[in-house]
Amino acid sequence: MTVEIIPCTKTMAAEIRGVDLSQPVDDDSAATLLEAWHKYVLLLFRDQKMTDQQLKNSAAWLGKTSQIAMPVDRRGDDDIEIQKVSNIRDKAGKPIGALGDGEMWFHHDNSFTEAPDKATWLYAVELPSTGGNTLFGNCYESYEALPKELKKEIEGRKVLQVYDFTIREKPRRNELADVPHYWQPVVVQHPVTGRKALYLDRLMTAAIDGGSDAESDELLGQLFPYIERIDYEHEWQLGDYVIWDNRCSVHARRDFPADERRLLKRGKVEGDPLLSAKIAAA
Ligand SMILES: [Fe+2]
Repeated sequence: MTVEIIPCTKTMAAEIRGVDLSQPVDDDSAATLLEAWHKYVLLLFRDQKMTDQQLKNSAAWLGKTSQIAMPVDRRGDDDIEIQKVSNIRDKAGKPIGALGDGEMWFHHDNSFTEAPDKATWLYAVELPSTGGNTLFGNCYESYEALPKELKKEIEGRKVLQVYDFTIREKPRRNELADVPHYWQPVVVQHPVTGRKALYLDRLMTAAIDGGSDAESDELLGQLFPYIERIDYEHEWQLGDYVIWDNRCSVHARRDFPADERRLLKRGKVEGDPLLSAKIAAA
C-alpha cells in the first residue's frame, strides 16, 4: 500500500492516507508510520471501520497494548484493552463508559504512574452535533518557548503527578498515602527523537521539588501557561482514529452539549519510565 503523509499544522499532527488499520500493517508501512509519528507527534487516520478485535491490534506497529488501570466500577465494563469514553447511560441509568462529560483540562495520560503509556489512541463511534473537539499541545514547543532563566531554574527537577479520579483539590506532599502518584522529570528527554519536552499539567501536577509549597505553587503558576497551547485542534468525524505520543504532547477536550450522545473508544500502548533530560544528557 502507498502511505501518504499530510501535515495538519506547522507544529504538530499529520493525516495518514492509504492505510486501513483493520488489516495488519506490513513492515514497510509500519516503519513509515513510526517515523511519521515521531516527527509529527500525532497521526490521524480517517474513515476507519474497526471491530473491537481489530481496534485491539490497531497500534501493533507501535508496541504492546497497555491494560486499563481504572477500576471497573468507574468505567462501565471490564474490557482491559478498550475503554469507552462516553457520557451515554444504559436503560438502567448506568454509565456505559467513563470520563465522558464536558470539558477536560490539558494533561498527559497516566503521568502518575512509574511507566506512563507512551501512546493513546481514540476512535470516534458516536458524536454530538457540535463541540467535544480534542485539543493537542506540542510539549517540545512548550519547552522551546520557555525563557532561558526558567529552563535553567527547572533543569533536573521533578514534578509530582497525582490522580485519583475523585479528588478536585490536589493533595499536598504530605497527603499522598491513598493517592496514586509519581515524581516525573519536569523536562523529559524523548528516547527516540532525543528532543526535550516540558512535562507537567494543571490537571495532575501537584508540586515541583526543591522548595516550599508556596514556592512550588508560584513556579508551577509560571510554567502552566507554556504547556497550555493549542498546536492542533481535532474536530471529530465518525470513523476518525487519532494516536498520539504522551511523552511530548498534552491533550484537552472542549465542552459539548450534555444532552447529546458521544462515544469514543480508547486504548493505549505500553511505555517505559520517562528519562530526565539532565540525566540523559550526562
Ligand atoms: Fe487523556
